[in-house]
Parts: sequence; C-alpha cells; structure tokens
Amino acid sequence: MDLSAKLKDVSLLQTKCFVHGKWVSAASDKTFAVDNPSTLQHIASCPEFDPKDTEAAVAAAQDAFKTFRHVPARTRARLLRRWYELMMEHMDDLASIITAENGKPLADSRTEVAYAASFFEWFSEEAPRIYGDTIEASNPSCRLRTVKEPIGVCGLIAPWNFPAAMITRKVGPALAAGCTVVVKAPGEAPLTALALAELARRAGIPDGVVNIITALENTAAVGQVLTTHPVIKKVSFTGSTGVGKLLMNQCSITLKKLSFELGGNAPFIVFDDANLAVALRGLMASKFRISGQTCVCANRILVQRAVYDTFVQMVVDEVRQFRVGDGYVQSTTHGPLIHQRAVQKVATHVQDAVARGARVLLGGEPLHSLGPNYFGITVLADMKPGMKLCYEETFGPVAAFFPFDTEEEAIALANDSDVGLAGYFFSKDANRCYRVAEALEVGMVGVNVGALSDPVAPFGGVKQSGFGREGSKYGIDEFVITKMVMTGIDD
Ligand code: SIN
Repeated sequence: MDLSAKLKDVSLLQTKCFVHGKWVSAASDKTFAVDNPSTLQHIASCPEFDPKDTEAAVAAAQDAFKTFRHVPARTRARLLRRWYELMMEHMDDLASIITAENGKPLADSRTEVAYAASFFEWFSEEAPRIYGDTIEASNPSCRLRTVKEPIGVCGLIAPWNFPAAMITRKVGPALAAGCTVVVKAPGEAPLTALALAELARRAGIPDGVVNIITALENTAAVGQVLTTHPVIKKVSFTGSTGVGKLLMNQCSITLKKLSFELGGNAPFIVFDDANLAVALRGLMASKFRISGQTCVCANRILVQRAVYDTFVQMVVDEVRQFRVGDGYVQSTTHGPLIHQRAVQKVATHVQDAVARGARVLLGGEPLHSLGPNYFGITVLADMKPGMKLCYEETFGPVAAFFPFDTEEEAIALANDSDVGLAGYFFSKDANRCYRVAEALEVGMVGVNVGALSDPVAPFGGVKQSGFGREGSKYGIDEFVITKMVMTGIDD
C-alpha cells in the first residue's frame, strides 16, 4: 500500500533507525517487511538491527547521557512539551500510520495519538517537580538529605498494540528524569515509533537522547543486548508474562532496575444491584477496545445469576451493531487482529470453551471473507472455571460470560489467576464498592467504569502481571535513584 499518499507530511514516514540524531540502516543492510494486518499489503521495510547495531545505539545513549543528565529540568520540560505539541499537530498523519501497521480503526488511532501525547504533556509538568528530602540524622553533628538522580541509559521495549502510547509512557518519564533511551520498536508496528523519532528531532531533543531501533527476526538478540549490556541501568518492558520472565532472568546478570507491565486476565464483575446500562457501557470500553487486544481488556465476565440472562442479551444486542472491517473505512468500529497467530489463539480459546460446554451466542469463527487476520465478534455463555480462557489472556474479541451466585464466589473466581493487572466491577452498593475493590488482587480497579487509562493514574499490575508503575507522579520513580548525602559538620 502507498502509505505516503495518505499523509500530509510525508517526511513522517521514516524507514530507518534513529541513532544519535541520524537515520541509519543495519550494518548488514538487512531489512524486514512491515505489512498492513488488514490487507496484508506491504507498507515499508525497516532495518533488521543486530546486536552490534544495538550496541552502537547504546553507545550513542551513553554519550548523550554525559550532558543530558545536567540539562536543567525546566529545559527538559520544554523539550517534552514541544514534542507533545508536535504530536498533536500531526495527529492525523500519526493516526494514519498507526492504522496502516496496527489495523485499528482511524478513530481509535486518533484517540491513541492524544493518549500517547498526553504522557509527554504530563511528564513535561513533572520534570521540574522531582524532589528530594531533608531528614534529621540520628547523629546531631550530621546533616542528611536525599537527591533524585537520573538512573542512566534505559532500554525500553515496546509492544505493537499501542505503537505510540506504550513508547511515550516510557520515554516521557525517562527524559523528564534526565535519562537517555534506546527504544526497541515493535517489529509488527515500527513506523509509528520512527515517526515519533522524526518529531523528537524537530522538537530539538539533543542527538543521542532518544534512539529508536527496529528488528523483527533479531528481536530476541536485540533484547539480549538491552537486558545484559552493563551501560544500561534500567529496562522497562510491556509484553507477555512469558517474555517478561526471560528478560528478567537476563537482567539479573547486571541487576538492572526493572519495570514490567505484563499480561492480564481481567475479571469484570456485574452484581445484581448494578446499573446494567452503565455496566454495558463499561464492558464495551473494556472488552472490545482495539478488538480485545489490550492487557486491560476484560477476559472473564462474571455476572450474578439474577441478571445474567438479561445482561448477556443486552451485550449480544449491542455488539451486533459493531462493524468489523478495514481501519481506513469510516464505518468500521473494529479492525483485524495483528497476525494469524493471534487469530489462531482466539480460535483455540473458543474451541476449548465450546468443547467443555460453553454456548456460542454470536460469532465464534474467523472472518475469512475479510482476510486471514479477522475474527468475528464473539459472545460465549455458560463458561466454567478450568477453561483455557480462565488462565490464558485471549487478546481478542471474545466476551465470555460466567454466572455466579454470591459476592464471595465472584471474588474467589476473580482472584483465581496467576496474573493481576486490571479488574472491574459494577454495583450501586457503596459498602460493596469498598469491600470488593479491596478484595481484588489486581494493580488497577475500575468501579462502575470500564476505561482506566489516564496519564495521571498509576498503571501497573501485581502477581505475574509485573511490577513498577507507569504514568502518574509515580512514573518518574522508575527512572531515578535516590542518593543519600550525609554531611558531617564541625562544631
Ligand atoms: C496495554 O494494553 O498494555 C495498555 C493499555 C492502556 O494503556 O490502556
């Protein structure tokens, strides 16, 4: 496809890596293809970086850190602010690039650009507000204070589902703190990251502060460098729990500071005292956002028996109105999945559930007529514990309903998972709202709301969903070290 024909500013379509302020190919000159997941058409080719290329990017970030760490916070704030403004100015082009390589509908891509840019806006405001403490020392002839220093060069590994926002959520706090970064762009969707690099250049971010590299086949080898290189002091990763465990193992050799946002399997509980219209709205936001491909998507929908049939029918009626198709078509509400492996995984979850007694009320099959990456919007009733979907994240457009009788049962079902990223519940009982929010073993709770994402809110999980918080006032903590300074005074 000719993506440049869709752009007002064609220089946002960059296809080389961005290292030390320059556009560079892999030393081997190898590239990989970036295809549109809707049509499978070829969009562009990007450099297949290898470990040596990656080391050059780390060296660029190391060099830039020597000066960037001393750049005043107010200047860092202005750079981030300018980058935010450029993203907003180029929203339509950035959205077109996201839709081309990720497949999500253009309206969702625009929402993502605004969400992504908001992390730069937020952290531009946080940069001048990084405070240390003064503490009364136990020894009266000493004075004690803490200073927050940038941790150093950071390796940031980003996923394909939000090709802009998952990068800005990491880069924003890193730069606000005075760190420099090497970003490994997602192999499935690297062009958005490279467009962000072009805007970083225009914003005046000094050379080497932001380095963006691409690889597909070499992803593991590039990850190996970012997780073992002694110059890198911090790794932030968003992706699956399985890969997170591997990276953590690698990082242990040099004991890097880590923040990991890994898989979820969000419970979504509807109590019989809930406002069902509000719960329906929440479920549409949580379950079907970008066709179910977010870590905070509802995966297990638990509905109290008295309202079970009514609520399930409301959902079926609502999702019948969705229009699945190409993201560039204006009427499309839901796009394709990212690749055929994703379709296969969703199909396996549906088949497993059906084989164990679930009922398909809608969908349940790939939509081959639209292309190999499409799966129909699916509603499954009569789900039971033990089905595959209960312990694996589906990452697709499947609303799976489990009936329950009591609050205790709902909490036990919700917490019956190794992961704990987001959880949602709906109730009008104020006491229950406190009780259940406290009982859920997750990092983020939505009470009578299905959309949690906000740059001012701490995003992150518990259990095997990882650790560390992104966004919010806590986001900067992940990129600083607290240095204690004890000063003896003569008296
Ligand atoms: C994710 O899927 O990892 C991020 C979702 C969000 O930020 O809303």
